[in-house]
Amino acid sequence: MTAPLKHFASVTVDVALGDRAYDIVIGRDELASLGTRVAALRPGVRTAIVTDRTVAKHWLEPTEASLAAAGVPTARIIVEEGEGSKSYATLSQVSEALIAAKIERNDLVIALGGGVVGDLAGFAAAILRRGVDFVQVPTSLLAQVDSSVGGKTGINSPQGKNLIGAFHQPVLVIADTSVLDTLSPRQFRAGYAEVAKYGILGDEAFFAWLEKNHADVFSGSAAREHAIATSCRAKAGVVSRDERETGERALLNLGHTFGHALEAATGFSDRLFHGEGVSVGMVLAAQFSAQLGMISPDDATRIERHLSAVGLPTRLQDIAGFAQEGLADADALLALMAQDKKVKRGKLTFILLEAVGRAVIANNVEPAPVRDFLQGKLAKH
Ligand code: GLY
Repeated sequence: MTAPLKHFASVTVDVALGDRAYDIVIGRDELASLGTRVAALRPGVRTAIVTDRTVAKHWLEPTEASLAAAGVPTARIIVEEGEGSKSYATLSQVSEALIAAKIERNDLVIALGGGVVGDLAGFAAAILRRGVDFVQVPTSLLAQVDSSVGGKTGINSPQGKNLIGAFHQPVLVIADTSVLDTLSPRQFRAGYAEVAKYGILGDEAFFAWLEKNHADVFSGSAAREHAIATSCRAKAGVVSRDERETGERALLNLGHTFGHALEAATGFSDRLFHGEGVSVGMVLAAQFSAQLGMISPDDATRIERHLSAVGLPTRLQDIAGFAQEGLADADALLALMAQDKKVKRGKLTFILLEAVGRAVIANNVEPAPVRDFLQGKLAKH
């Protein structure tokens, strides 16, 4: 892996999906280019910006100004911040607001926000008038490197995360890296777990680069853009080869079977951000792989050491309120995993590791060894 450039010029990563191909534009201050890009893509379009209250405070006006300067009319739809907005109630509120804003078939929905807003607005666009195109303007690190790319949209059911949704690809993604300057360190760290994920699952050289350069990624130098662009290239490659997750795309779920159960057990609350759940989940996946004799214990330790070095939680016991009912209970965690989309006839699917940089899909994992493994982890206070 070569060292990143001192000054990072914006880059465009192509998501090669034939007539649904689109660009991910990555760079500082790219939000200002949104209006001209939208006007060029869809002359005469109307837009509705879906965002949350916190993002609106920082970025709604510059977004509207960029679109207005290019002569693009906008409406604004503001939802509450947080995972709770990925609900039937908020979906209905956003859908009705889009209809009231007269967003028609050829118009565009603009998702301005993190993963929650992107998933919600993307799903609302997917079902509005049987499908309206949308643009992702991700404002969190997690959304820039993962959720804004690849067309997974949806909301949560009270019975599980992302159980209601659709594949609906955006027509453009603008990842303005300067918007990350307003993220809390905790939010940035949570997004970093998904950056590290690309190294752990398929690119050992990138993981080694992150081990050396993570402080620069956090401090906001050109290393940050380099890490985001590398992550987006990895994701774009996987999505273009396996859009509907019939094979390889499942590798991107590394850490997510454990992680989603942990998020559910903590009530999708601020006790555990998604990326934090993925961090603990990736370490558990590595340790479970080591227990099965698939990855060396040294490689599993290397993964834990790096995630821990950047301040991410890596153990069940690191999660706030760990001792509360539900989290310190292997059977309860297993029951939550059984609700995952990745379950087939009672057998679990895990993404396991053979080495740092080499993940594999393990279908048909019996629940019993997973329960034993979790009980072992829970016993270690
Ligand atoms: N976040 C995993 C995927 O997009 O497939």
